[in-house]
Amino acid sequence: MPIYLTTPIYYVNDKPHIGHAYTSLATDVLARWHRLAGREVFFLTGTDEHGQKVEKAALDAGEAPQAFTDRVSQAFRDLTQTMGFSNDAFIRTTEKRHYAACQALWTRLADRGQIYLGGYEGWYAVRDEAFYGPDELTERDGVKYAPSGAPVEWVTEPSYFFKLSEWADRLLEFYEANPDFIAPASRRNEVISFVKSGLSDLSISRTSFKWGVPVPGDDAHVMYVWLDALTNYITALGYPDEGADLWRFWPADVHFVGKDILRFHAIYWPAFLMAAGIAPPTRIFAHGWWTNEGQKISKSLGNVIDPVALVEEFGLDPVRYFLLREVPFGQDGDFSRAALTNRLNGELADVLGNLANRTLSLIQRNCEGKLPAGPAAEADAALLEPLASLPAAVGQLLEKQEYHLALEEVFRAVRGANGYITVQAPWSLKKTDPERMVAVLGHLHTALRAYATVLQPFMPATMAKLLDQLGVPEDSRGLASLATPLPPGTSLPPPAPLFRKIEAGA
Ligand code: MSP
Repeated sequence: MPIYLTTPIYYVNDKPHIGHAYTSLATDVLARWHRLAGREVFFLTGTDEHGQKVEKAALDAGEAPQAFTDRVSQAFRDLTQTMGFSNDAFIRTTEKRHYAACQALWTRLADRGQIYLGGYEGWYAVRDEAFYGPDELTERDGVKYAPSGAPVEWVTEPSYFFKLSEWADRLLEFYEANPDFIAPASRRNEVISFVKSGLSDLSISRTSFKWGVPVPGDDAHVMYVWLDALTNYITALGYPDEGADLWRFWPADVHFVGKDILRFHAIYWPAFLMAAGIAPPTRIFAHGWWTNEGQKISKSLGNVIDPVALVEEFGLDPVRYFLLREVPFGQDGDFSRAALTNRLNGELADVLGNLANRTLSLIQRNCEGKLPAGPAAEADAALLEPLASLPAAVGQLLEKQEYHLALEEVFRAVRGANGYITVQAPWSLKKTDPERMVAVLGHLHTALRAYATVLQPFMPATMAKLLDQLGVPEDSRGLASLATPLPPGTSLPPPAPLFRKIEAGA
């Protein structure tokens, strides 16, 4: 079964920050995992370029919207390189094919009697590009705010509406029949109670500005940016051509989103799709938000975390590891330099790096750099036996997006291997029992190969380096190839350290 994974498409109102990198990183790790397991994957990311918020940002920058979005979109494309993302495509909502897809979806909804012309009168938050009911707002110093903290403004304009109110029962049935559709479970309950409280029809066009996809047959309106944006997920697969080659990837396996944009993905999106007669996605995973050293991240506080600077300082793979190891995916978490430094020094360098370095240096020194092999003794069982089930165990956790548990599973094994090397002390076996030394180093090599293989999605470049040092050919790095041992005697290159420690407090 082909796998389709998506990130949100990012607003091009500003440069990328850690939140963008985080959603895409989680998507990337799962995409890489499925490829490692031999599955066909389509991994999509891109930029959301229309709407009032982006138009305003262009205006503030003194640029025409298209020139502005070209420039900022490129920064998000560059981030995919910086972060080592393996996306198969990068979509922009200003592409012609996307206009065609949005207009085709609109026409389909209209043909099915799902759209009518009316007038919108109510509250709108440009920052969220969202409509809010009066009961959702709070007031401070005469200004009304949405639950997200975004200020709202009063809007009165002609608007087309989507008959969302007709879909509440069908959505509830759908959630019931598909208990894994919204994850984590706490978020699912939130969405269900929101839908149960009743849905109003949704305004899906705007007339007070022009920066959007024109409504077919009525140029005075541009489409509501969320209808436009959500459609990207099917544009990329060739919609409206449901015979396109890529269409076989639909429905999406996981749409990764932050908790702030769950409502759009878990309520509006399946309603639009069901109303258009298209299958809804399989799962929406809403992750939590990062704070920075205990503080909410915001431009006005000046504490936005720049992923490029972070990678420059700590290295890409430690940052990738930290973001998914430190906080259970789905929960809010706090970024701190001390925590990142501890993970890098205390886990990556001291536990994994050290095991690799000790093993590979001993092989180099005591086995002429040739892959050693020998019989397994009873004392080796605790190291070797769990290896066979490691990929399945990690896979099961990743399929539930439990990244931190998957990493914990692997590192528990790595710590066990460190215990093994200490007890077996192959360095002293050289004189007392050289045959046993050869066997012990061979087993450690087998274990390291398994750890490096399953860790590739998290730390692709560093694990490639480790697999090089272990002498594993590039075409033998998939999960299935773990079943075939490397030929004993394979020459191993001289080892080099995998991680660079950061001085604490630096
Ligand atoms: N354009 C919409 C998505 C449309 S998808 C059809 C959008 N764009 S965004 O640029 O605002 O995307 C932000 C993404 O980054 C969201 O998934 C959001 O949750 C995430 N984050 C923004 N700040 C964040 C943190 N401080 N921490 C973690 N993620 C956060 O929404």
